[in-house]
Amino acid sequence: MDKIVIKGGERLIGEVEVSGSKNAALPIFAASLLAEGSNLFTNVPHLMDVRTIVKVLKNLGIKISEDGGTYRIDATEALGYEAPYDLVKTMRASILVLGPLVARMRRAAVSLPGGCAIGARPINLHLRGLEAMGAKIELRHGYIEAKADRLKGAQISFDTPTVTGTENLMMAATLAEGKTILQNAAMEPEVVDLADVLNKMGAKITGAGTKLIEIEGVESLEAVEHSIIPDRIEAGTLMVAAGLTRGNIRMLNCPLFHMEAVVHKLKEAGMEIESDGEGVRAVGNKRIRSVDVKTQPYPGFPTDMQAQFMVLMSLAKGLSVISETIFENRFIHVSELKRMGADIGIQGNTAVIQGVGNLSGAPVMATDLRASASLVLAGLAAAGMTEVSRVYHLDRGYEALDKKLAKLGADIKRVREPD
Ligand code: EPZ
Repeated sequence: MDKIVIKGGERLIGEVEVSGSKNAALPIFAASLLAEGSNLFTNVPHLMDVRTIVKVLKNLGIKISEDGGTYRIDATEALGYEAPYDLVKTMRASILVLGPLVARMRRAAVSLPGGCAIGARPINLHLRGLEAMGAKIELRHGYIEAKADRLKGAQISFDTPTVTGTENLMMAATLAEGKTILQNAAMEPEVVDLADVLNKMGAKITGAGTKLIEIEGVESLEAVEHSIIPDRIEAGTLMVAAGLTRGNIRMLNCPLFHMEAVVHKLKEAGMEIESDGEGVRAVGNKRIRSVDVKTQPYPGFPTDMQAQFMVLMSLAKGLSVISETIFENRFIHVSELKRMGADIGIQGNTAVIQGVGNLSGAPVMATDLRASASLVLAGLAAAGMTEVSRVYHLDRGYEALDKKLAKLGADIKRVREPD
């Protein structure tokens, strides 16, 4: 297993390119199951999670070739319908093949994704939606066994906005008979990017990006070409890195229009963030001010930026309060940050952060994707050496983050640790 070793204190200066979005690529790859023919997807990030969805699709008989960030995916061949436990357990977003399989193959046997470090991560809303569309669903031996004739359009209202739930049911509805309405749908940009791909394939989707999405079913879809949108969470993580190091970075391919809530809070904390036409400049040249944050579904402050923002608040002047309203256990990074000198108290889903003068480097352990990013960020700002172990968590969702930070001047390197 690799670890990342950082000597803190270097200012980040220079230019960096934001990679394609993990959470857009995963559902778009799953959507390839819906049509015959060869899709061409570009700007795909090099991530472990992308490699996992590729394995899941190949296991279904899909032909996939890759050249750099360009993937050719052809689902013409007879499709399997199983997503096995040994693959799904490594990435719960594999559940995104469920909707397309039921829609196209009219059956699916997908391993139930367990919970993960940040929460129970139920999928009841996914299953309830498919049942409303006529699928027969049984849970057997840890698998979701789904069968359907042609799915029928239905009116589905989500108890709570669910990103992959919205994506799964939007995909399933494209080939259903009649109209499906998704109410209280997730509005994330990644849902919109998926809808754009599905409409290019011949689907009839309106309202993506709002709480009310309508899908008029069609007989069949066609393969398409598409460039994946940039990753707003990677971009936000890089902005926090600039804020923590009094840095001055210029970001290319930065999806500023998807980052209103994050940019608003970073500016409140004293950062300067401005578009200069081609790029976006993020400057962290002032003492950081304390700012309160409450995570919300999009367009609110994203839960995927909570851990990173907490590091910034650890070094801010004064007291800040961060409330995590999406997941029940997304403060796992707190104990490691406290070992680096952060002053953070937890009450339920609320963290109270008292800014400190500085953090001190320490050996720390990553536990989940965004927590690992927050530990790397803390290492950039801490005095002395920080070693982040189990960085495979980081590699799931960040394309060569250590290389990008090194290019900006960070004293950071990846070291292979004996297993
Ligand atoms: C997506 O996860 C993202 N993953 C997550 O990013 C992100 O944190 C999350 O949305 C919230 O924005 C991908 O897009 C691959 P949800 P998802 O369903 O879809 C409850 C990262 O770091 N819920 O929107 O699994 C659930 O418990 C990852 O990149 C149900 O109750 O999350 C949670 O409280 C982490 N029943 C809330 O909804 C369901 O059937 C939001 O979860 C589904 C969800």
